[in-house]
Amino acid sequence: MLRFWTLEAGPWTLNMNAAVAPARRPIQTPPIPDSPFPYHPGSLLSVDDLALDEVSRILERATALDREDPLQRARILAKRRVALLFYESSTRTRTSFELAAKSLGADTTLISSLSSSIEKGESLKDTGLTIKALGAETIILRHNSSGAPWLLEEATRLPILNAGDGMHEHPTQALLDLRTILAHFDPQSRSCHPELSKNRHPERSRSAAQNGEVEGSAFPIVHVTADTLAGVTVTIVGDIQHSRVARSNMRLLPRLGGRVVLCGPPQLLPEIATQTGPGVSIERDFEAALRQSTVVMMLRIQAERLAGLQLDLDEYQAGYQLTGERLREFAPRALVLHPGPIIRGLELTAGVADGPQSAIVEQVRHGVAIRMAVVERALGAIPQKDRL
Ligand code: NCD
Repeated sequence: MLRFWTLEAGPWTLNMNAAVAPARRPIQTPPIPDSPFPYHPGSLLSVDDLALDEVSRILERATALDREDPLQRARILAKRRVALLFYESSTRTRTSFELAAKSLGADTTLISSLSSSIEKGESLKDTGLTIKALGAETIILRHNSSGAPWLLEEATRLPILNAGDGMHEHPTQALLDLRTILAHFDPQSRSCHPELSKNRHPERSRSAAQNGEVEGSAFPIVHVTADTLAGVTVTIVGDIQHSRVARSNMRLLPRLGGRVVLCGPPQLLPEIATQTGPGVSIERDFEAALRQSTVVMMLRIQAERLAGLQLDLDEYQAGYQLTGERLREFAPRALVLHPGPIIRGLELTAGVADGPQSAIVEQVRHGVAIRMAVVERALGAIPQKDRL
């Protein structure tokens, strides 16, 4: 049994899948830690583990590393060993973590469940211990079971970076979403400017793109406080129930003063979702939700996690698809985000995905910057003054 809306209620259980533990049995995981953080200080397991000062520090390092000369940057983690352990398929997260670690000079290795002894039934613990014995100094883990990163941390005592665990959390996605929002955020008007980088700073944008930098950093907010996002409403739409991206954003954005509005049909968005914490509410009417939105974050229906749930796709599209007409009429100034992979024609139209309000591709590029900062943090590579 997996109780994912009630994680804060105390100890919780999860089933490890057969690939991890051949005999299926419930495993008691420790309660989500309060403070002080009992895990490795370089680990990033949940957004809850990050004080706002640390969020600021990661944002600050992401910007500094993004702007750093590539040759200098490649010295920061030269010859350090980073392992990526992926039990689920991934394009953006895996590639951006790998490129981030490599651009800091680290050696990376990928262990995927389909081409390793995991296929033969090796447990997560034994796989972790093997990777550690081979010299890995940190493990980036994506796993289909919620809580797996905590287990791996306990088994290996290495800094573990959670790259998505089941339906639970995806902390680096929430950080990169935050960086994307802040890149478009105007603190004076308390609104986002989707067109910011394109219209306001064409010169800067062009040269930034040529240098591989992320666009849209005209408002490079890197210090966040409890009211940085006051007045900002982020609407998350679609399959909230199965989304670790939604879960991490729901836990992070309200701590910066942002309001999170969840929107979707009851099968994909149970009422209990509002109990995640303060600052989170439900609006079932998509158009009413759009009217309030500074940012609209669309989600894919996670077909692989529906577990027999029947959903009428025509009905879903009629109620919740983000179309050009809806966007123009109800949220003409909102920034459109999506963690990917996007299914064009289902949760949003191709015109919206490629349109002027979309920052979907930009999010991917912010992901590399955030993951550089997080990998650097994992390996305790405190930057020297003369280094940057
Ligand atoms: C998401 C994930 O895997 O959690 N994508 C991502 O990491 N960028 C969302 C999804 O799979 O729909």
